[in-house]
Amino acid sequence: MTVVATTREQMLQARDGRSQVAVVMTMGALHDGHASLMRAAREQVGSDGHVVTTVFVNPTQFAAGEDFDRYPRTLEADVQTCRDAGVDCVFAPGVAEVYGSTDLARLSDRVMVDPGSLGTVLEGAIRPGHFRGVLTVVATLLHLTDPDVAMFGEKDYQQLVLIGSMAQALAFGVRIIGVPTMREPDGLAMSSRNRYLSAVERAAASVVPQALMAAVAAAGDGPQVARAAGLAVLATEPLAQVEYLEVTDPMLGPAGPGAGRVLTAVRVGSTRLIDNMPCVLGPSDGAGASEGMDAR
Ligand code: PAF
Repeated sequence: MTVVATTREQMLQARDGRSQVAVVMTMGALHDGHASLMRAAREQVGSDGHVVTTVFVNPTQFAAGEDFDRYPRTLEADVQTCRDAGVDCVFAPGVAEVYGSTDLARLSDRVMVDPGSLGTVLEGAIRPGHFRGVLTVVATLLHLTDPDVAMFGEKDYQQLVLIGSMAQALAFGVRIIGVPTMREPDGLAMSSRNRYLSAVERAAASVVPQALMAAVAAAGDGPQVARAAGLAVLATEPLAQVEYLEVTDPMLGPAGPGAGRVLTAVRVGSTRLIDNMPCVLGPSDGAGASEGMDAR
């Protein structure tokens, strides 16, 4: 049975003393990518454990003019998705339950978690304050749900790295586990925001995974070549406006030989798509370098 809780008390009651707890945090508008996180959560805690999915559209991670108001709110369908995925409890709190206030204009004036310099590059450079809001709500939801393990998608790779760093730096005592991205048949990463795309834009959006795959394929020739290969593919799609495509090490520092990550943000129409893939980098190739994100 899947319990729907809106208060911390209801959510903890549903737990019924079960020892191992896994949490999957979402903003709702659930899709198969989220369901894969819930299945991974179940694998972590087993059939005797307890899986909680939180559904909360967090106001503090949206800047003025972003899509907070139009972000899809589909709780009934989300509960069904959670039921189908075998989730024990859907925790869908209101703003007051999470922040202790409903005064949206003043939420960011309260105590917030500072993501440090890694929060100011890539997504953080384009969305100032975004990771401050993300880490604050993740910290709060971790305290409210008190899990042993928390699952986050690799789709939001910088978010995953920052949450892992926060949990470690602030001794949260919870295991943070990254789950690989689920993709549509044409490679597009599953995302709640894909539903904003028109049919024409949806077709154009497949250039994003294609660009990442081109970068991954070229990575053996070094990060600069990989970056150029990815950007060349994005340049073939007139509807794609590139915000960034960068090659870094797995912790988002400067790319060197060995494991790396290719990350991109692209606007297709008014929809912002972000995606990333792991790669294996060859030695650096000199001039015109992709500098990585030396923010640690
Ligand atoms: O990835 C998301 O959906 C959100 O950023 C999260 C982690 C649920 C925090 O609001």
